[in-house]
Amino acid sequence: MYVCICNAITDKQIRLAASRGATTVMDLTNELGVAAGCGSCRETAAEILSEHEHRNRRFEPVVFTPASA
Ligand code: FES
Repeated sequence: MYVCICNAITDKQIRLAASRGATTVMDLTNELGVAAGCGSCRETAAEILSEHEHRNRRFEPVVFTPASA
């Protein structure tokens, strides 16, 4: 699906950029040109980045230690 109409950038391209390290819309602007025109794609691009981060977040193991008596 096209996210940035002005620059013909798709959600797949944004996810690929995120997998390469893009974490902000500014990163996407620099790499792909997202939001460099009218800016109406900014919010959707940010949501895709957030979704990507959420899906790829590493969970730290939780270690429970018994309370001392
Ligand atoms: S739709 Fe992305 S800059 Fe216009």
